[in-house]
Parts: sequence; structure tokens; C-alpha cells
Amino acid sequence: MANQTSDVQQQARQYKENAAANILQGRPEQALEDYRKVLELTPLDSAARLKVAELLAQFGRRQEAVREFQHLAIRYAADGQTLHAIAACKLILAIDPNHQATQENLANLCAMQVAEERLREGVGAEPEPASREPQAPATPKPAPTPLFSQLPKDVFVALLELLEVRRVPGGASIITEGERGNSMFILVQGTVRVVHTPENGAPRTLAELGDGSFFGEMGLISDAPRVASVVAIRDCTLLEVTREMLAKLGERFPVLEQVVQQFYKDRLLDNLLKSNPLFQPIPAEKKRAIAERFQSRTVEPGTVLLQQGQRSHALHLLLRGRCSVVHQDPEGGERPYPDMTEGAVFGEISLLLDLRVTATVRAATSCLLLVLDHEAVRELVLPYPEVRRTLTQLSRERLDRTAAMLAEGAEVQGSFLI
Ligand code: CMP
Repeated sequence: MANQTSDVQQQARQYKENAAANILQGRPEQALEDYRKVLELTPLDSAARLKVAELLAQFGRRQEAVREFQHLAIRYAADGQTLHAIAACKLILAIDPNHQATQENLANLCAMQVAEERLREGVGAEPEPASREPQAPATPKPAPTPLFSQLPKDVFVALLELLEVRRVPGGASIITEGERGNSMFILVQGTVRVVHTPENGAPRTLAELGDGSFFGEMGLISDAPRVASVVAIRDCTLLEVTREMLAKLGERFPVLEQVVQQFYKDRLLDNLLKSNPLFQPIPAEKKRAIAERFQSRTVEPGTVLLQQGQRSHALHLLLRGRCSVVHQDPEGGERPYPDMTEGAVFGEISLLLDLRVTATVRAATSCLLLVLDHEAVRELVLPYPEVRRTLTQLSRERLDRTAAMLAEGAEVQGSFLI
């Protein structure tokens, strides 16, 4: 019996491999036949059914495609995979917007999903009765979808009703670093890799995200170029939230924007810690307090961030992009210092020594910065001796460099400080 099962699975795997090869070689009709054979052998294989449904939709065989998606929606709902079922319904409505049974199913599924998220959070759950009987090991509960579980019910339902579904094959790019974006994505099913490539550096994986995660909120909120690329590692089902949807829903439900903002700030902080170890010695709960206080700022090339001669009131942290630093002499000439690249901190000398800025810092590319006012830095950052030491050392190195440049003949106008 066990042998029979493994034979069947092996055959099914072989058909799947054939199907993948046929798709790659531009023979989708044959791939469809292969996936159908997989379903004959293993009718519960949802991934294969999804492929069948997609291929049918691609060939314009709408009714058959709808039937397969319906099959999937029912299967997912029966397995308690409500979000997957919702995505399948959305795919039906993309083919046939007036499919009434699906409209009704969708409304019910949305309500179910809300109830499930509440249960996972323990909201309204009955306390477990005390019992002396030996208990069967509890099935682990799926983790709540990070974004959804924090939203009130009405916001959640409104969001689900508006979302658009996208299917992305494994290996495909979803977001390209550096481009502007108009959507964020909720990953219903699949795995994506978030990769950032620093200027002149090797690509670095920031995270791998799975079912229920979301991404792309940073470009949407900051209006800055995408800070990382996101690539599907496996076939993915995504719900896409466009800027317009977020704005429309944000008007009705300000809490939605607050929740997305919070994730945005957490990720900014995460990236900051990955690009600059300055804050590493600070305990986690204090890092959160810092995240609450910093402002993110997106600037276009040419924007002056610190102006020579003025006072700086904030510590600047460059998360993305490059800034040029110049000393301006009274005749209008400019003497360049080395550029600031990603991870750079500036504004620390005027913070530590309370002096005016005498170099001008300009965005050389479009930049994403975190700005923490001096008061917050004094309160939250400087109490940590290690951080203070690092900042002091950084300012010393910069002062030494400035002194060396001046020794080569530049005229001193006040102190050469950033
Ligand atoms: P955005 O910049 O719009 O596009 C790339 C996305 O990658 C970004 O939004 C975030 O959603 C996501 N991202 C960036 N940094 C991280 C991180 N450290 N961990 C997880 N996801 C991230």
C-alpha cells in the first residue's frame, strides 16, 4: 500500500516536472495535459489545480477556468485556508465579475477570515476549561497575518473586498529596487526573498517572507524608490493594494494607515540596524522608542540637507542613496569631501560639540533618510556609552580628515564640521 502511494506520488512528480519543462519550452497546451494527469493521480494537489485553472484562463476557456478556481476555493475553505480561498474567489471575479455565487462566497469568506484572525489573537475566545484528562497535543495555530490581525473588523472587510489578486510564478521579480512603486502586496501563499544591493556592494538578503506577510509599503508611504528587490522564490498568490486604494481606505479608516506606518517604521529601523551597527548596543525596547521618534525623509537629487553656517538640529542617517559634502569658500568655490553613502551618519559633530555646520551636505541621488532630532538623540541614544564612543570616534576621524585637507591649503572659515 505504502509502495503504491509512493509510486503514485513519483508519477505525479514526473508529470509536474514535464509540465514545468513544457512551460519553459513554450508548450503550455502540453503543460495543461501534464497537470491534468497530476490531478488524476492526486486530485487534492492544489498547486496543480491552480496551474490548470491559470492555463485555462490564459487560453480563454473561461468557464472551465472558473470551475477549477471554484473547486480550489471550496478545497481551501474546507482546509481552513480562508485567505487562500478568498484569493481563489478573487481570481474567479477577475474572469467573471458578475459571478454571483462567488460574490456571496467571498462575503462569507471575508467574515470567516475576520473571525479566524480574532480567534488567533485570542479576542473573544472562551478560556480553556480546566481538565484533569490527558490532553491531545494541540495543533499549532497558524500565525496571524501581521497586517490583518491589527485591523478592526470593518477595515479588514473593506480592504479584502477591494484587493486585487495577482499570481506570480517562482523566479519572477515582483519589485525592483530603485524603481518607484504604486502598490504594496500581501502574500497569501508562497515565499519571496527581499534583496538589497548597496551602491558598490554585493546583494544582501534582508528577509525571506512567507504566507501572510506583506511588502512594498515603504515605497508607497515614503514615495521613495524601492529600497529592495522582491523576487518570488516559489509561485506566489498576492493581493495587491494600490496607492489609490490605500488612500481611499485611509480616509475612511485612519487606523489602516497607522498600522502600515508602524510596519514601515519597524522595517526602516531594521534596515538601519543592518546598514549601520551604531544602534546595535541599544536594548530592543529602547530601539522601538527611537523608531517612534525618528522622521523619515525622502529627497530628490540636489536637495540641501545641511547648510554650511547654519545650526543642525538633528542627526541624519542615510538609508538609501548618496550625498555629496562640500566646503564652500567665500568666493563661491567648492571643495569636495568624500561622499556619504548608505549607512552614513551625519550631524553628529554639531550634536556632540554644539557647533555650527560649515560644510554643505546635498543629496547626490534621490535619498531616503532617517532624521532624529538632537533632543531625542540626547535622551535615547547618548546615554549608551558604546554608542557615544562610536559617535565621538566618528566625529574625531572626520575632524582629523578636515584638518588634513585644510593643511593642504584650504582657508578656514569657522570649524569644518558636519
Ligand atoms: P519597498 O521599498 O516599497 O519595496 C521593497 C520592500 O521590501 C520594502 O518596501 C519592504 O516592504 C520590504 N523590506 C525592506 N526591508 C525589509 C526588511 N528588513 N525586512 C523585510 N522586508 C523588508
